[in-house]
Amino acid sequence: MSVEKFLDRLKLRHPIIQAPMGGFTTPRLVAAVTNGGALGSIGAPYFSPDQIAREIAEVRALTTGTFGINVFAGGYATENTVDPAPMLKLLGDIHDELGLPAPSMPPLGKNPVSAQIDAVVAARPPVFSFAFGIPPEGDLQKVRDAGIFIIGTATNLDEACALENAGVNAIAAQGGEAGAHRGTFLGRFEDAMMPTLDLVEAITKTVSLPVIAAGGLMDGADIAAALKRGAVAGQLGTAFLCCPEAGTAPTHRQALLAAQADTTRVTRAYSGRNARGLVTAFMERVDPRPDMILPFPLQNDLTRPMRGAATKAGDARFLSLWAGQGVARCRALPAADLIAALAAELAAAG
Ligand SMILES: Cc1cc2nc3c(=O)[nH]c(=O)nc-3n(C[C@H](O)[C@H](O)[C@H](O)COP(=O)(O)O)c2cc1C
Repeated sequence: MSVEKFLDRLKLRHPIIQAPMGGFTTPRLVAAVTNGGALGSIGAPYFSPDQIAREIAEVRALTTGTFGINVFAGGYATENTVDPAPMLKLLGDIHDELGLPAPSMPPLGKNPVSAQIDAVVAARPPVFSFAFGIPPEGDLQKVRDAGIFIIGTATNLDEACALENAGVNAIAAQGGEAGAHRGTFLGRFEDAMMPTLDLVEAITKTVSLPVIAAGGLMDGADIAAALKRGAVAGQLGTAFLCCPEAGTAPTHRQALLAAQADTTRVTRAYSGRNARGLVTAFMERVDPRPDMILPFPLQNDLTRPMRGAATKAGDARFLSLWAGQGVARCRALPAADLIAALAAELAAAG
């Protein structure tokens, strides 16, 4: 599919997607992006069905344009095979420092994706996207029947082929530079760290669906380079984290804007899944002991009180400072201005 056809199909003015970012997007951010002619996306992996309905309604109150919503399709552990005692001890010391009660093991919840998809289908947003796997076929069929455009996330060629077989409409190719969680669901994550532009090209050569480039894109010239390699659009996450409309905590924002180079690393310390962020004291403590990290989502639930207290206290040591490798080029611009700048740079580079 050509860039023009993709823009036409989704009624967009620019081949730019604001990445769905669970915990970081707000209705204001999504609507500002959509009103700017790009695709705004709600990050909803941690939302209940009710929150999904509410968030979509809030976005609709602010825009009549095209927007999307995103959940995690899989990756939820069904059992815990790791002894929690060492992690509880390590977190207990940090809780003492932060004045929190001792940590306790959270219950292992069930995969929320089917209930989340029911809420998405009921609200009928224009676009639905997912990462960490492929939803059950019955759920995907409901989304298709509702006429919603479906985007799946691939970090390697096998995943792109599996997504094509599952009948998605487009593929977000997440390269190794990308901020926050790796979407990998087939094969080892270490084998799925291809640079974004190489991954885009590899997928477009094999799969006949439109491919969206995600990972390390920070300006219009980066997007132009991705389009040259066969992408129909660029999906940017880190670049939007410093927009005033984003839900990024002040301490996280300051760390992003202070970064002078790529000081990110991939870690399982915060959530149990591999994710890229600025190096923190917590990562330095936990990364050398991968054996003590609980699987996702247990580790994520277990570190939530620490992250919450650190956010309130402005203590960057214990925050997950998610960022992609382009972090040093973050701009603190309102979303509309960022889109205008990206579009102008793209036009100049094209
Ligand atoms: C803070 C943050 C949160 C993210 N949360 C999600 C998410 O909930 N779902 C998802 O599919 N991708 C998520 N991503 C990944 C993005 O979709 C995209 O792959 C990534 O941002 C691209 O790399 P960049 O950050 O270098 O632009 C997140 C990225 C960031 C930076």
